[in-house]
This record gives sequence, C-alpha cells and structure tokens, in this order.
Amino acid sequence: MCGIVGVTGVENALPYLLRGLEKLEYRGYDSAGVYLANPDGTDFLVKEKGRVSALVAEAQAQGVYGTAGIAHTRWATHGNVSVENAHPQASSDHRFHLVHNGVIENYQELQEQYLAGVTFASQTDTEVAVQLVDKFAKEEELSTRDAFAKMISLLDGNSAYGFLLMDSQEPDTLYVAKKKSPLLIGVSDHGNAVTSDAAAMLDMTANFIELMDGDIALVKPNSVEIFGADGQAVVREPFHLDIDPAQTDKGAYPYYMLKEIDEQAVVARTLAGHYFNDEGEIVGIGCAIGDTIKQADRLYIIAAGTSYHAGLVGKRYFENWANIPTEVHIASEFAYDQPLLSEHPFFIFLSQSGETADSREVLDNIKRQGFPTLTIANVMNSTLTREADFALPVLAGPEIAVASTKAYTAQIIVQAILAYSLGEVELDLKQELAKVAVEIQAITDEKATFQAIAESALKDQHSAFYIGRGLDAAVALEAALKLKEISYIQTEGFAAGELKHGTISLIEEGTPVFALLTQAKTAGLLRGEVAQVAARGANTITISSKSLARPDDAYVLPEVDELLMPLLAVIPAQLIAYYATLARGLDVDRPRNLAKSVTVQ
Ligand code: F6R
Repeated sequence: MCGIVGVTGVENALPYLLRGLEKLEYRGYDSAGVYLANPDGTDFLVKEKGRVSALVAEAQAQGVYGTAGIAHTRWATHGNVSVENAHPQASSDHRFHLVHNGVIENYQELQEQYLAGVTFASQTDTEVAVQLVDKFAKEEELSTRDAFAKMISLLDGNSAYGFLLMDSQEPDTLYVAKKKSPLLIGVSDHGNAVTSDAAAMLDMTANFIELMDGDIALVKPNSVEIFGADGQAVVREPFHLDIDPAQTDKGAYPYYMLKEIDEQAVVARTLAGHYFNDEGEIVGIGCAIGDTIKQADRLYIIAAGTSYHAGLVGKRYFENWANIPTEVHIASEFAYDQPLLSEHPFFIFLSQSGETADSREVLDNIKRQGFPTLTIANVMNSTLTREADFALPVLAGPEIAVASTKAYTAQIIVQAILAYSLGEVELDLKQELAKVAVEIQAITDEKATFQAIAESALKDQHSAFYIGRGLDAAVALEAALKLKEISYIQTEGFAAGELKHGTISLIEEGTPVFALLTQAKTAGLLRGEVAQVAARGANTITISSKSLARPDDAYVLPEVDELLMPLLAVIPAQLIAYYATLARGLDVDRPRNLAKSVTVQ
C-alpha cells in the first residue's frame, strides 16, 4: 500500500526520490518523507503530513540533498496520520533510518521483549524494527547487515515487509529486504535504485532485478549483492521493462482516471491482437493452460474489489462457452473460510496489481493443497503471476488512478478469450472484440452526455442505486463501487429482483436509481422494477442497449454480443462516477483512505 524508493550513486538523489514518490503517491497519501545522506557525513530527514506535494515544497525550501537516499509515501496501518508516524523512521540516535511497506504482526511483543527503556517517537511498527537494528548493532556489535538480518529473523511468520534501511555511517549503501511485499532493484551505469513499483524509477533505469521473499540485498553505487533466504549469496539477472515512461504520465488529461477510461478501446484492440493471429485462431494461451483446465471439474475465481466484479462477469463465459461450472469468491473471505472444494478444482486469480495480499494468502493456501493455479493480472512479474503455475497478461498498461477502470474491462476480455479457447463457440470473438473496441470509443466520445447526467442526478445526493439483472447485476456492483469510492455518495449495486425484498424502503423522492438494461431475457422484469421505484419518487436513469431501448431512456448503448455487453455498459458508469466526483470538487484519482495495490490483509 505504501510506496518505497531509494537511490544511491548519483549527484543528488532528491529529484529522483521526489519524482518517484509522485508516481507512487497513488499507493498511499497520508504522509511522505525522505532521508538523504552524503559521503561528508551530512544528512537530512524531512517528513510531511498529507500529499507528496507538501514534502516536495518543504524539501526544496530546506535545500536538502544527498548522493543517496530513501523515501516513502504512507498509507497508515499502525499509528494515526502524523509527521511522527511518517517514514523514514529513525533509531533514537538517528544513526539508522528505515522505510517499510507492510505490517509487522508481532511488533508489540518485540518492543516489550527487546526494547524496554527505549523512548519511542512514534506509534509505528516500523520504529520498533529500526530500534532493534540499532540495538543489535550497538549492544551486540553486529555489522549493519547482521543487525538487519537479526531483526528480520525475529519477525512473526505472517509479517509482510519491504524494507529499505540506511546507516549514516555508510552513506552510500541501501540495505534492502522483502517478504510478501514487492521490491525491485533498478540497475544502471549511473547509480542504482530500489523501488516498490518499477514505474517510479523509469526515468533512471528500465532494468530491474526482482527480489524474492526472504532476500536481503546491499545496494551500492556500483554493485548489488543479494543473499537468499538461507543467507547464501545469489545472482539474479535483471530484466528489461518495456514501458514507455510517457505511459505513466497524464499527458493532456486532467486526471489519470479519465485517461484510463479513454484507453479502454485501445486495450480491447491490443488484447485481440495479442491473443489471436490473423486467421482468428488463439495463439497467446499456451496449450498447457488449456489442457490443465480441461481436467478440472470446477473453476474457482479468486479476487478482490473491482477484479472480483470482473470475475462475476467472467464466470458466465466459463459456464456458457467452456461448459465448466465456475464459482467466484472474495479473496479475503476464501482465505479464512475455504468452502468445500470439488474433486478437481482449478484456481484463477484475477488482479490488476498482482500484489493484493488477500489474493496472495489464498494462492499460498491453494499451493499448499497442491491444486493448479493461473493468475490473470495486469502487472506481470508480480507476486501473483510469479507464484501461480500459469500467468496470462491483461495488457491494460499502467493503471495509476486508484479507481480501476481499464483493468476491469481488460480482465473481462482475457477471461472471455480463455473461455472461448476452451470450448466450441459459434461467435467470431476476434471480430466481436474489434466491434467492442469501436463501440467503447463511440461511448467515450459522448462525455458531455454523462457529465450532464452526473451533474443533474448526483451533484447533491447522499445515496444512489445501480440495479440490473443477470450480467447487468454484476456490472451494477462495479458501477456502484466506482461511484461510491470516488464521489463518497453511498451507492448500492444489486440484483433488481431483490428490491422488493427490503431495499425499496430506502427509495425517497428524487433518489437516483440507475438501471442497466442489456439482457433480453429479463428486460421486461427490469422495466417493472424501474416503474416500481419511479412510482415511489425515484429519479430513474435507464441505460439500455439498442434493441431493448425505449424513447425515454437516458442513454442507449450500441450493441455487441449480449454476453459482452458488460464491456459497454460499464463505460457510462465509469464516466458518470468521474463527472459526479468532479462536480463535488473532489480529487478523482486519489479518494480518501484508499490506496492502489492493497498489500495488507
Ligand atoms: C477499485 C479497485 C479495487 C481493486 C482491489 C483489487 O476501483 O481498484 O477494488 O480492484 O483492491 O486489486 P487488484 O486488482 O490489484 O488485485
């Protein structure tokens, strides 16, 4: 959730670190901090509450600099949001500074056992870690590496960490360690870097070494030494990341979310191009995946949030096209309440980031039980893609806005292609996806319509509803999440047939009720439900597909194969959420309390 960057071996690390933090800010934006050190012994610590821009202003005003440094943007777990709790955390004598992404589960026990008498400056688990390093270095006269390793060896097995430590007595060395939290070492001939997300360091290098759980690394200006979980030196080759740094910029867009909504047409084309050859045959899915899935008697899709909603749509493809019974589960529930499994289950993990801790927990459990696994993720080389038996890319490009948009549609498309590859389906999916791309483009071209709907229906509302049946009910969940998470309008999304079983009592004069109506079989019933809420004063806004439309519908969607309609129906909902949030004067890309990539359980 938090973002970490470190740089060594440059003339001044500050600009790299601050630019890196700006890129990582979407991972957490409660507070931010930077520590810089120089060979002449000068060092600087600056921490600010709030956005990275506050840190940038303060660091520049103070004129701090350093040939090496570490920086952090925080999403609070232990300790409230304050300058004291911001990272880097320091040992009492300020010899050591540490930034940390993750949670140390047994920090209170460690504090009681080893640090009685130490005065703490914060309430964070991270300060316990850095005070322990200091204690072991001083009292046991351990080298910094050994003190760091000893501290790590005391952490509870459930703890997750990405650590970046500096010792002011060795100002050019970054001590690095990771477990269940992503961390990459960026290598170049003009200094080295460490980052929790490659995108943050792309202006320094595109070559990264991936650390494995349990690794400890020493990163110096001209060298990288890595020690595996057994303490033995290991060599890990860097990989080259083929991302254009411009892809992680907003360009002319006011917000990443709008850019990412617009990119969905291109993503649909990219996926069709990647997974199909010119003859319309599927090429991007290895035979081993298909052969393994075909042996399964049931698929289990595991995901969180928006990815879970994409799974609810994907289920239909696996059942209708591949003829395999499919269950979709919320990762955080499945992890601690595993249902009775079928005899030959196959697990599909859906994730934008590939780092979601809840899903990782399930993957760990499932691997221990020996069942086959596939991850479908946007970030390849992520923990979930690396640790599953198989991985398929979502190819949406970097998604930076906290509210997921293009990863949702791309995950649906990849599931459709996979299901299609497993069965015999009448449809020409490649051609249908080309049509989807054209129609997504047509819908995104009508922004003014959605802005007008959002401003008139939602600007001053406290609550709203999205309803639908069948696949539209699945999209309603995602539409409601989009609206509530960024506009803070309490929005419920649910199966329209459930209205009469309770929720209809919430309808008041003017309550906005958005109906998604793209499924022919239930269109009549849904029309009835719209009429029922309208009769009780609701402001009904119906988004229908062309063949089911009526003259007073608020928006009529172009038509593609009915099972693929979620790919179109979600676009108005994304744009309505965006414009409602703008109209309420809120930060679209960084909603309060949230962070991109949820790496704590
Ligand atoms: C909402 C959103 C989240 C994520 C969820 C899972 O807009 O983005 O609900 O979908 O945190 O994240 P990933 O897909 O990275 O596993």
